[in-house]
Amino acid sequence: MATIHLNRFCFGAFLLILFTAQPALLVHSKHLHPAKWPSFKNLEGSQKGLTAKGIQDVKNYLRTYEYLEDNNIVNCDNDHFDDSLEIALKKFQVFYKLDVTGKLDSGTIKQMNTPRCGISDKDLTTVGNVLRYSFFPGLPRWPLATKSHLLYSLDVITNAPAVSLEIMRYVSTEAFNQWASVTSFTFEETAGDIGGDLYLGFMPFDGPHKLIAYSYSPPNGTLHFDVADKFSADEPPAKTDFDFIGVALHEIGHLLGLQHSTEESAIMYAYITPGVNKHSLSQDDIDGIHTLYSLPPP
Ligand SMILES: *[C@@H]1O[C@H](CO)[C@@H](O)[C@H](O)[C@H]1NC(C)=O
Repeated sequence: MATIHLNRFCFGAFLLILFTAQPALLVHSKHLHPAKWPSFKNLEGSQKGLTAKGIQDVKNYLRTYEYLEDNNIVNCDNDHFDDSLEIALKKFQVFYKLDVTGKLDSGTIKQMNTPRCGISDKDLTTVGNVLRYSFFPGLPRWPLATKSHLLYSLDVITNAPAVSLEIMRYVSTEAFNQWASVTSFTFEETAGDIGGDLYLGFMPFDGPHKLIAYSYSPPNGTLHFDVADKFSADEPPAKTDFDFIGVALHEIGHLLGLQHSTEESAIMYAYITPGVNKHSLSQDDIDGIHTLYSLPPP
């Protein structure tokens, strides 16, 4: 059961890449691993040259979020801390504004242990030279002139989450209202659990934490929360729960065409800590969506 769903996830990630990136990535994406790794804590202080059990998991983590280059795939199935791992770690540390040590220092391990969105940080498309908000390659977006009214469906039946339709409706209304208030989009729930432009449902990904939700760039419209994670509309959420409105806002941001931001305060930042209230769009998110929908076609 779990294997089937994980394969579906991998296939989904594969198709995302297929739609949005160059053919060279196809080989790479076949090697995407589901987010299954230990905490890395025993590896603190590791650096280039060392061989230690678990380094392979670090490589797979960085491969999943696409920090390793294609040509280094051959080196991934071993526990040797090689050049390519150091380069990938430095790229990760730059993106997340950590100390750029190329080592598995405590800040880097803490970041990697924070739950996050399943969409990788690869090929972020930026405008100008300030890396904050970003877009998917090729700038996929909804044709606002002809399609500004988007219909969405809510599904609490498939994979039976521990969330009621009422909560789901409350959370999605809050999230869609926020995006509507800063764009020309309007959103409307459709009856039933299928149909419409956007779909919000649940899927088993990798158990609690780690990867908590996944969605696709336009015009796909599909958004899945991890059924094994606990999402809450409480303010603040309990220590083990994720801010449901915040995660919904983030994933809807992807559905509208935004990719990850390097701004920690942005809703489009890839990581979210359980127990933390984070459910208002930041100026960076607003600047991002305004920029995306005012750009000429690529
Ligand atoms: C969105 O993409 C996923 C993964 O490729 C696919 O299974 C699904 O059918 C797509 N949905 C739509 C509406 O295109």
